[in-house]
Amino acid sequence: MASQLLHVATAGSVDDGKSTLIGRLLYDSKAIFEDQLAAVERVSAERGDEHADLALLTDGLRAEREQGITIDVAYRYFATPKRKFIIADTPGHEQYTRNMVTGASTADLALILVDARKGILEQTRRHSFIASLLGIPHIVLCINKMDLVGWSQDRFEEIAEEFRQFAMKLDIHDIVFIPVSALLGDNIVSRSTNMAWYDGQSLIHHLEHAVVSSDRNLIDSRFPVQYVIRPQQQSDSVLHDFRGYAGTVAGGVFKPGDEVVALPGGFTSKVKAIWGPGGEPIEDAFAPAAVCIELTDNLDVGRGDLLCRPNNRPLVGREIDAMVCWFTDVSTLSEDSRFTMLHTTRSTRAQVTRLDYRLDVNTLHRDLDAKSLGLNQIGRVQLRVQQPLLFDPYRKNRTTGSFVLVDEATNNTVAAGMITGPTIAASNVVWHGGVVSRGERATKGATVWLTGLSASGKSSVAVELERLLVAGGHPAYRLDGDNLRHGLNADLGFGPSDRSENVRRVGAVAQLLADAGMIAVASLISPYAVDRDRVRAAHEAAGLEFVEVFIDTPIELCAQRDPKGMYAKAWAGEIKGFTGVDDPYEAPRRPEVVLRPIDGGPMEHAKRIMEFLNL
Ligand code: ADX
Repeated sequence: MASQLLHVATAGSVDDGKSTLIGRLLYDSKAIFEDQLAAVERVSAERGDEHADLALLTDGLRAEREQGITIDVAYRYFATPKRKFIIADTPGHEQYTRNMVTGASTADLALILVDARKGILEQTRRHSFIASLLGIPHIVLCINKMDLVGWSQDRFEEIAEEFRQFAMKLDIHDIVFIPVSALLGDNIVSRSTNMAWYDGQSLIHHLEHAVVSSDRNLIDSRFPVQYVIRPQQQSDSVLHDFRGYAGTVAGGVFKPGDEVVALPGGFTSKVKAIWGPGGEPIEDAFAPAAVCIELTDNLDVGRGDLLCRPNNRPLVGREIDAMVCWFTDVSTLSEDSRFTMLHTTRSTRAQVTRLDYRLDVNTLHRDLDAKSLGLNQIGRVQLRVQQPLLFDPYRKNRTTGSFVLVDEATNNTVAAGMITGPTIAASNVVWHGGVVSRGERATKGATVWLTGLSASGKSSVAVELERLLVAGGHPAYRLDGDNLRHGLNADLGFGPSDRSENVRRVGAVAQLLADAGMIAVASLISPYAVDRDRVRAAHEAAGLEFVEVFIDTPIELCAQRDPKGMYAKAWAGEIKGFTGVDDPYEAPRRPEVVLRPIDGGPMEHAKRIMEFLNL
């Protein structure tokens, strides 16, 4: 933990003293580092890990460079005995925003500089907004050149208050304000004697203590394949069977023995082994480790494919909504603009199908009539790409949720984008009223179909799932088989054709809801596979997602619960044709999600479905 790496992005306006600050950090930290270097060296020699660490560092950066997104960003390293740091230093004046975006995409913390004489400028707001857009969890606002304002506490408070007001509108949770003089070193490494009124910590203290581990996504396993490694064929030896996939883990954890699916092909296999950059075996690989994954089967997997867990997949689609930052004054972004999109390890052609709005970074006002985005402007767009993307919303995964756009003529990177979700079809209902507004919804409509024996727990899971969905801002509605039998299906019994009709009707209603952009949560025994498959086919033909969830509770347990005493009656012969007793239950052959009692109760089950839905 002590040597956990912190990625820092720097931002500010021209002449705010950023270079001086970085120089100061490098210089002063070197001084403290040297003081204790002997001790550190002894410990790392004992652990023998110092060199391996450095190799990993450079490897991670090489992967980024290969994606072509670190142009013009210089990375500087420094360390204190407590921690190692990478600072993305972004030189250049006009293209400051672009450099900040590219440099900040992996940052844990944004260091924003303000000149105490000038206060909060448009650039400060723009960069803070970008930091929040990029999901950088921590912001440190350094109010610099305090020596030039007479070390004034009032001036410091005034600037901090103005920024707080602005930040309230942003999605930023952790902001720290530090008055500094980068030139003189006040509050950089040690506390300033010129500002006795400041009772906070020095900058380096904040950098050393920022907590980043809990910010990382350890749930959604994602591994975009960068290249396939095969051993060199020696003239005097046979070609080995080895085939490994090299890349950088983009989310979650991968372990030997894990079942994985390779997308978009959809073949499943198991992780046989994982190797580090130096060829050492790795027990668990998580982001952002650069590793080589070997599978037990020889699949047709190549660059641009993605390994993930079978029951936790990214979204797949050709139409996405995204926030983009435009980087150039050579051209503008407008509807119909075409680009090459670089997304994880793939590149594909992309077209802007709609510019939803342009954002005023000062007021955060959305200009819905905007026709284009110019240099440094930020807006929301809809994009259509040539090859389906395997993506997650950016707020879930900063790697699979981001992309850059490259001008096809000049080969320049002209924009960076953060995916908000799949595009909502224009025909869909528009949701207003605070919960969800147009384009804000993370998903298209979908149907989650819970199937299983009577008393298997379908309704309880449905209730929890609906609650989680609605709490997350996703309009959802529950269709409960039992309840609907009092109204819509009051004319139906339990013979085979009535059950088919029951499923058909509920399926049709669910599809209407999904088409309206909602998530329909249907819970029915729906014992016959052919009926469920028909509902699935109708959804898929309409381009709607159908998620079949098998509540796999053993009949003994269902009978033990038996809230209405039905199993007892069925066994006693008082009810005829009871599912699981004297009428068949056909378990789904390929359900998207299987939930068993061992996986937990209704709450855990509902969460598993949320994970599958990527919500
Ligand atoms: S389905 O088979 O047509 O999908 P549905 O989920 O709507 O069934 O309704 C099942 C509920 O009806 C059960 O939970 C149970 O309480 C009741 N029920 C009454 N008769 C039967 C039966 N013969 N088989 C199964 N459930 C029955």
